[in-house]
Amino acid sequence: MARDFKDKVVVVTGAASGLGYALCKRFAQAGAKIAGLDKDAKGLEILAEELKTMGASANTFVCDVTDEAAVNDTMGQVVDKMGDIYVLINNAGVSHVSLFQKTKASVLKTVIDISLFGTIYCTKAAIDSIVRTQGTIIGIASVAGYAPLAGRTGYAAAKHGMAGFLNTLRTEVARSGVQVLLVFATYIKTNLGKNNLSADGTPMSKERPTSGNVLMPDDAADSIFNAAAQEERQLLLGETAQASWDLYHSDPVAYEEIMLSLNEYVFDL
Ligand SMILES: NC(=O)c1ccc[n+]([C@@H]2O[C@H](COP(=O)([O-])OP(=O)(O)OC[C@H]3O[C@@H](n4cnc5c(N)ncnc54)[C@H](O)[C@@H]3O)[C@@H](O)[C@H]2O)c1
Repeated sequence: MARDFKDKVVVVTGAASGLGYALCKRFAQAGAKIAGLDKDAKGLEILAEELKTMGASANTFVCDVTDEAAVNDTMGQVVDKMGDIYVLINNAGVSHVSLFQKTKASVLKTVIDISLFGTIYCTKAAIDSIVRTQGTIIGIASVAGYAPLAGRTGYAAAKHGMAGFLNTLRTEVARSGVQVLLVFATYIKTNLGKNNLSADGTPMSKERPTSGNVLMPDDAADSIFNAAAQEERQLLLGETAQASWDLYHSDPVAYEEIMLSLNEYVFDL
């Protein structure tokens, strides 16, 4: 039987832009009560306005997911104001595009702090509430969460870490009725490219080349919504994600050759 999200509390991190924004709208369409978290206050105002226009029940919270105390405080406010959490979508993230040898270690730490520790802090703060509702925890990983991607050592470490964390957590919480869904996404048309960090940590402020089909955020959000409703464990989001999974697990050397041919530009950055 499909999960029903009507009147259920759905927390989305990184809600002010791109995929997170689209996920808030998709779950709101299904009648969920949305808690949108982001560090971008202006973006949250625009989201709140759009959700209000849709007639959705929603609250937004300015919260930096790398700040454990702020995350604990925000999740407490969500539960007090809106009730127990049914879905937590760990979506906030940033990448860098730069060779490891040229990149400051602090840049890798920033990327890992947001995608991996952000996920750990948010999940830790929400887990008791989610166990009470027998809800769902979702992690938005990437093809770089199961296969190598040149120029993104920090991003790959963060997303592989997220996958290891959530796949293991699933084995602990399944007996409580909690679902865990890992999403391994290919390129989506969002602000991620513009927000990518360069070797010294400054935002790149320009699009990076993509490969394969690029998904639109609303389509990606729809697929994630359906996978959560169907209680799937894993979603390979986009044709490239599925093809990459198949090739990397059958012939990793061939995968690396193709991936490098598509990412040759990172050696010139
Ligand atoms: N766009 C893609 O091609 C793609 C592909 C695979 C996976 N993903 C993943 O999808 C997720 C969403 O990214 P997107 O593509 O929508 O990018 P985006 O840049 O459009 O949105 C990311 C959001 O996260 C927020 N954020 C960043 N750091 C934060 C922090 N410390 N605390 C709270 N919020 C923070 C940003 O303010 C922004 O609103 C990310 O985890 C990303 O790694 C994206």
